[in-house]
Amino acid sequence: MNAKVMLVTGGAKRIGAATVQYFHQLGWNIVLHYQQSEQQAIALSNELNAGRADSVKLVQGSLSSIKDTEVVAQKAIEAFGKLDALINNASAFYPTPIGTISENDWFNLVGSNMQAPLFLAQYCHATLQQNKGVIINMVDIHASHPLRSHTLYCMAKSALVTMTKSLAQELAPQVRVNGLAPGAILWPENPLAEEDKANILKQIPLQKLGSMLDIAHAIEFLINASYVTGQIIAIDGGRSIASNTKA
Ligand SMILES: NC(=O)c1ccc[n+]([C@@H]2O[C@H](COP(=O)([O-])OP(=O)(O)OC[C@H]3O[C@@H](n4cnc5c(N)ncnc54)[C@H](OP(=O)(O)O)[C@@H]3O)[C@@H](O)[C@H]2O)c1
Repeated sequence: MNAKVMLVTGGAKRIGAATVQYFHQLGWNIVLHYQQSEQQAIALSNELNAGRADSVKLVQGSLSSIKDTEVVAQKAIEAFGKLDALINNASAFYPTPIGTISENDWFNLVGSNMQAPLFLAQYCHATLQQNKGVIINMVDIHASHPLRSHTLYCMAKSALVTMTKSLAQELAPQVRVNGLAPGAILWPENPLAEEDKANILKQIPLQKLGSMLDIAHAIEFLINASYVTGQIIAIDGGRSIASNTKA
C-alpha cells in the first residue's frame, strides 16, 4: 500500500524497460511512459502486473511539445496519486549534420532530451517535494565531448547537465537531482558499422560495453545516496577519462 512510485519515461524498451523491471522487482510501483512502442509497453506491463496486480500503469505521449509533456505529467501523477522518483530516460538520438537540421529535429531532439526533463520536473516537483523524492536525468558522456554530426543531441544533453546542477540547488533540501552519463551501453537502434563498434571498444579502458544492469544499479545508488545531489556519474567503463578517447 505504501509502495514507492517511479515514473520512467521511454520505459518500454532497452535501458528504460530494464530500469522498470529492476525497480519493480524491488517492490516499486511504476508509471511506464512510452510514445510509439505500445506493444512492448503493454507486454511488459502485463507481465509485471501478473506478478503483482496494478503495480504498473501506462502513460502514452510525445515529449516533443510542452503541452503534451504537461499531459504526460498529469496522467503520471494521477496514476498512483504521487511520485517518489522521476527518471528522465526518454531520448531521441540520431545525427543532424549542419545544413540538414529541421524544425522537427529541433522539437524531437531538444524536446525529449532537454525540454521535457525540465517541464516534467516543474510539473512533478510538488509531489516529489512531499515525498522527499529524487530526479535522475539520463545524460551522456557526449554532453561534454560532442559526437560528430550530433550537434542538437549533444547540445540538449549538455543543457540537461546544467539543468541537473541548477535544479539540485533550487529543489534542495526536499528533492535531490542527479544525472547518469552512460558511455556505450547498447548500440544505437540505427545500426553502426562493425569497424565503428571496434573503434569505440578500443577507447574503453574496461574493454566492453556496459550493461543495462549497470545503469539500474547506478540509479539505485543515487536513490539511496541521501547526501548526493547535483552530480553526474559517468557509467562508461572509464571512456571519458581515457587518454585515447575520441568521446
Ligand atoms: N544506449 C546507450 O548506450 C546510451 C549511451 C549514452 C546515453 N544514453 C542515454 O540513456 C537513456 C536510455 O538510452 P536508450 O538507448 O535505452 O534509449 P532509446 O532506446 O534510444 O530511447 C528510449 C525511448 O525514448 C522514447 N522517445 C524518443 N523520442 C521521444 C519523444 N520525442 N517523445 C517521447 N518519447 C520519446 C522512445 O519511446 P517509444 O519507443 O515508446 O517511442 C524510446 O524507446 C537515454 O536518455 C540516452 O540518451 C544511452
